[in-house]
Amino acid sequence: MDNLQNFHRSHYCGDLRLADAGKTVSLCGWVQRQRDLGGLIFVDLRDRTGLVQLSFDDSTAKDIFDKAASLRSEYVVAATGLVRERESKTDKIATGDIEVYVTQLRLLAKADTPPFEIVEHSKANDMLRLKYRYLDLRRPEMQQAIATRHKITKIARDYFDENGFLEIETPILTKSTPEGARDYLVPSRVHPGKFYALPQSPQQYKQLLMLSGFDRYFQIARCFRDEDLRADRQPEFTQIDLEMSFLNEDEIMTIQEGFLKRVFKEVLDVDVQTPFQRMPWREAMDRFGSDKPDLRFGFELKDISDLVKDCGFKVFSGPVAAGGSVRLINIQGGAAAFPRKKIDKLGEFVKTYKAKGLAWTRLHEGSTTSSYAKFLTEEENAAILERAGAKDGDLVLIVGDEKNTVVWAALGALRCEIAKQLDILDPKDFRFLWVTEFPMFEWSEEENRYMAMHHPFTAPMVEDEDKILTDKANCRARAYDIVLNGVELGGGSIRINTPEMQEKAFQALGISEEDIQERFGHLVNAFKFGAPPHGGLAYGLDRLCMLMAGAPSIRDVIAFPKVQNASDLMMACPDVVDDKQLDDLSIAVTRMEQSDPEAEQ
Ligand code: AMO
Repeated sequence: MDNLQNFHRSHYCGDLRLADAGKTVSLCGWVQRQRDLGGLIFVDLRDRTGLVQLSFDDSTAKDIFDKAASLRSEYVVAATGLVRERESKTDKIATGDIEVYVTQLRLLAKADTPPFEIVEHSKANDMLRLKYRYLDLRRPEMQQAIATRHKITKIARDYFDENGFLEIETPILTKSTPEGARDYLVPSRVHPGKFYALPQSPQQYKQLLMLSGFDRYFQIARCFRDEDLRADRQPEFTQIDLEMSFLNEDEIMTIQEGFLKRVFKEVLDVDVQTPFQRMPWREAMDRFGSDKPDLRFGFELKDISDLVKDCGFKVFSGPVAAGGSVRLINIQGGAAAFPRKKIDKLGEFVKTYKAKGLAWTRLHEGSTTSSYAKFLTEEENAAILERAGAKDGDLVLIVGDEKNTVVWAALGALRCEIAKQLDILDPKDFRFLWVTEFPMFEWSEEENRYMAMHHPFTAPMVEDEDKILTDKANCRARAYDIVLNGVELGGGSIRINTPEMQEKAFQALGISEEDIQERFGHLVNAFKFGAPPHGGLAYGLDRLCMLMAGAPSIRDVIAFPKVQNASDLMMACPDVVDDKQLDDLSIAVTRMEQSDPEAEQ
């Protein structure tokens, strides 16, 4: 095997252009493809910038020609040669006008045949790609995604630095605190039976840093949450985490708008209009059935509870009588795309959101078909279609339930699903939105109690302060989310900064006096030493990268992601450890699950 002694790379492969013709260049990379045409050999050489064609012919020295003939895909080589204009140009690659006529060739490493082809749009199965992630990362789209991520992180560091923020690291080994997702725990060797928790976010530390006077903090922070994975969730993920003192919501939002404007301009050359639209949570739910509405299309929800509350059709009147609601969306011009069978599929879809069914009216080419019209009076039917603003060609879809949350969730998801099926979503159309005035608390069916909707450190809205213990359902928080195209990009709030209010908030969550001291004593006590008014937010960096890269999942912008069952297929972890290690940690394993990490995606 050759080595790199006295070899100095002069260029990256993908950077060469016609203007370089006549130059002698030295390149390194992987063989994408070798074509041996007898007296002529072409090798496509790849590095992180792209491909360039190396050429060898009958005037090439024999030892070099023979070496070129031995090259196979993914071999690692270094080559020196003359850049010259190609005879047959191609516009398929950026270097398509030229080739490098090789005068020196070194074979640096051989390669087995990879388990899948290293090409732009890989058809390889996801699990295989993740098992051999280091090969998957060689593919141009992955290289680009990772480079884009670097750029976004760099702009974040620059922007926040220029705006007076200090980057401060906070601990990874920390304390488990209830509320929020499940913790990842780390056993302590020197404190048998005790555990650290990995941080779900640096929330409490960053608040304490405000108390310490740092005023503006940021961190590119790794967070860990043991929760069910989805396309936009990983068990470990990264936040751009921020906290500021002496600023109100408006000032905090303005700083963020400046950041997003800059990152979109510098990375995508997209001009984002600021200030962003703002919408109270309740309006977002009423109009879009979601606290992260996608504003790229309409199909807004309309409440028809008042029109059907006294009708003879129990499916509609029942939910209203039980304190719920009946709402519709009108898919303008959607009737043609949704014949009966497809509407039935939509019915199945809403059931996955706990809706009992989907009622519909289809106005197609002058004729009206409906799943419910026969149960209502002519006036009631007309009033519903009028509320929907329905005309010929439209499809009206209705969900009623005793719980508003079910109606919102079902219709909110349905409008997005239909937009997807109609293929009307432009990934390059970026619609930012601040959702504000979130409820302080949400009722948890599972726990049978109110939980903090954001987290227990969020301040109530000034006008709702006295509702915190007495009217939890209607107490609103000074919380805000930044939403982009139906994705929650980040979330934050103005925090509580007095021990009295913090204790009240814990009390409202049913956390006992004793538990407050044990779990949150450090924070409540700290607040007694002069806590400035403060607030902040955290972006999901992975989600920002996903949206900017136009990727379908955050997996595609993380170098080494986990799969659905939280395992790393490449490293094959989590894994068993030997008894000695467990013994050191005073841990006995009482239950073992034989799991096949590849069985679940
Ligand atoms: P929150 O829990 O809303 O707030 O998280 C902030 C943002 O982090 C991203 N995010 C995730 N990304 C990938 N995988 C996950 N499992 C995951 N969970 C959350 C989302 C989300 O908007 N400490 C507060 C912030 C604050 O109040 O300042 C917090 O963590 O984009």
